[in-house]
Amino acid sequence: MNNFVVAIDGPAGSGKSSISKIIAKKMNFTHLDTGAMYRAVTLEALNRKIDLACENQYDFIDDISIIYSQGIVFLNGKDVSKDIRSEEVTNNVSTTAKLKRVRDKMVYFQRESAKNGKIIMDGRDIGTVVLPNANLKIFLTASAEARAKRRCLENESSGIESNFETILKEIKERDYKDSHREISPLKMADDAILIDTTEMTIDDVCNKIYKLIDERLKKMEEFKMEDLDMPKKLHVGDKVNGTVVVIKDKTIYLDIHNFTEGTMHLDHYTKDKSIESFKGLVKVGDVINCEVAKISEDNIYLSRLNQIVIENFKYVTDAKAEEKDIEVKVLKEIKDKGYIVTYKDNQLFMPKSMATPSVVVGQNITVRIVEVDEKKRNAVVSRRIIEQEEYQDKRSKEFDSIQVGDVLKGTVAKVEKYGALIKFDLVQGLLKTGQLSHVFVDITKELRVGQEIEVKVIHKADGKIELSRKALLKTPFEEYTDSHKVSDKVTGKVVNKLGFGLLLELAPNVKGLLHSSEYSHNPNDNYNNYVKIGDEVEVAIIAINKDKEKISLSRKALMDNPWERVTAKVNDLVDVTITAITDSGLNVACLGVDGFVPKQEALLEENKDISNYYAIGDTSKAIITDINPKEWKLKLSIKKYLAKEERKSFEKYLDDNTEATVSLGDMLKEVLK
Ligand code: DC
Repeated sequence: MNNFVVAIDGPAGSGKSSISKIIAKKMNFTHLDTGAMYRAVTLEALNRKIDLACENQYDFIDDISIIYSQGIVFLNGKDVSKDIRSEEVTNNVSTTAKLKRVRDKMVYFQRESAKNGKIIMDGRDIGTVVLPNANLKIFLTASAEARAKRRCLENESSGIESNFETILKEIKERDYKDSHREISPLKMADDAILIDTTEMTIDDVCNKIYKLIDERLKKMEEFKMEDLDMPKKLHVGDKVNGTVVVIKDKTIYLDIHNFTEGTMHLDHYTKDKSIESFKGLVKVGDVINCEVAKISEDNIYLSRLNQIVIENFKYVTDAKAEEKDIEVKVLKEIKDKGYIVTYKDNQLFMPKSMATPSVVVGQNITVRIVEVDEKKRNAVVSRRIIEQEEYQDKRSKEFDSIQVGDVLKGTVAKVEKYGALIKFDLVQGLLKTGQLSHVFVDITKELRVGQEIEVKVIHKADGKIELSRKALLKTPFEEYTDSHKVSDKVTGKVVNKLGFGLLLELAPNVKGLLHSSEYSHNPNDNYNNYVKIGDEVEVAIIAINKDKEKISLSRKALMDNPWERVTAKVNDLVDVTITAITDSGLNVACLGVDGFVPKQEALLEENKDISNYYAIGDTSKAIITDINPKEWKLKLSIKKYLAKEERKSFEKYLDDNTEATVSLGDMLKEVLK
């Protein structure tokens, strides 16, 4: 085992130096306190009375000699171990330690020191910058108070006077400066092991670190890591982590833990031709993942180009993992197969089935990554999915905005017997045949594809919309009653005979009721016996109920009621004309209405055949025996009239023979017998 490196980082006073010293002694490691090196440079700068913050006053750095051995610090050959702990140095070291020029030099020294043997190096940036490939990285920390206390004790034992509060304040200030400076700030390496020493004794901490070192050493043996003690024999294509040690305009030199440093030219670092120099692009200490591109007798050429491909493809895998859509440029079309699109220097494939008309060579479009083959660094993308989602999104927004009751203009998209599909923007609704009109119409004749139509939304559920055109049209009743009014004379067709009247159709789908009491003035008119379905009847509208959509009709309102003029009473003498002779008597016309003379009231003598005495058209006088205008009932007696007439002529006879000896009483006795 020739080379084993332990990196210990941590804030001021965390115990790094003391602990590193103990471990180095016990395990036979070389110890390098890098803080002491920065302190030595600061001391030299103070001795030279330069402006500490001014980098270009540090020319002496190129000739300085700092040797750290067994805890003793030699600055240009002189032991300055005590001087570098002075208050003045402590207060100024942060200013010096943040300068790039100083750090570059120190880092170089420190790396050189770590090239051979077993070394434990403590500082702030050992695991992150100086020795990123260290075998073991520890990050020691402790609360600021605990650290201040330790520093006080340390000073006391060295005979330096100190004040806890002042030291605590200084420690906090130094923590802040160390971890906020621009170059190599204090920070824990990702692969470092954190040990918080606040509640630990020095022995506890040391034991823990011994254990960790032992474990690592054992593991290395198990894996025959001895081979690694010697720089590995590299081959073209090997992957290495190189730490930048020197930066020139077009070339950088990287420490790849080999006999010689690796070289990388700018065009093997980036494909971006607009970048002309490494200056400002990388800094000393940066670790670069790269590949051995070429090996010559005296040089190892490194390249990052393959790494760029791998890193670039990570954009694709990351986007897929984060379910993020990406903006790509359409590079070219592969006939009948699809398109090649580019995304951050990756070429991705879009099959024809996943393309849409918006995929045009040269254009930028957003696509969804549907499949990734990490091994082959291939990915399949789709534009169609995005557009489908956009379509669905727009459609559901439109659907949500449509409410039952809305009146919308749409276009007929399809017509079938059962109904038509009406398209709005993206949403379609169904207009069932029955909703087209109030009367039955053949929808396939009424509508044609492409026609504009105004409809009302009558139902909306489960992503479906039902429409009605008839809801926007007047009902046949409304149309009819708009053009007709009470008292109008109209004709209706008998469509139904009901117990209480007739149902007449006045217009398609408009019906009216002719109540039985409105058919005729004649209470004895049995119209049901002769009126047939389909007969046309002239009627007058006598009422319209718009709420209930009902029309009431009357036939008798259009007819004359002869009985209205009849004022005669029982015993009145009237003229009659015989209109019919029946077995039961004579039908007569009288006072403009029909009357009846029963058989036994037609003649003076009884039981005679009346047809021998009367003929149709004969006229006579008769006396009313019964009259009821409501029931159209008029009964008459010719017999009574005749009897009266006979008595009259007899009385006249008596008047003419006043000298007769026979008294009136005697004569009447004879007649009235
Ligand atoms: O560990 P210390 O207190 O002796 O360190 C002195 C200063 O040097 C401290 O302010 C941080 C700085 N330093 C550094 O910047 N990098 C290192 N590797 C070690 C110390």
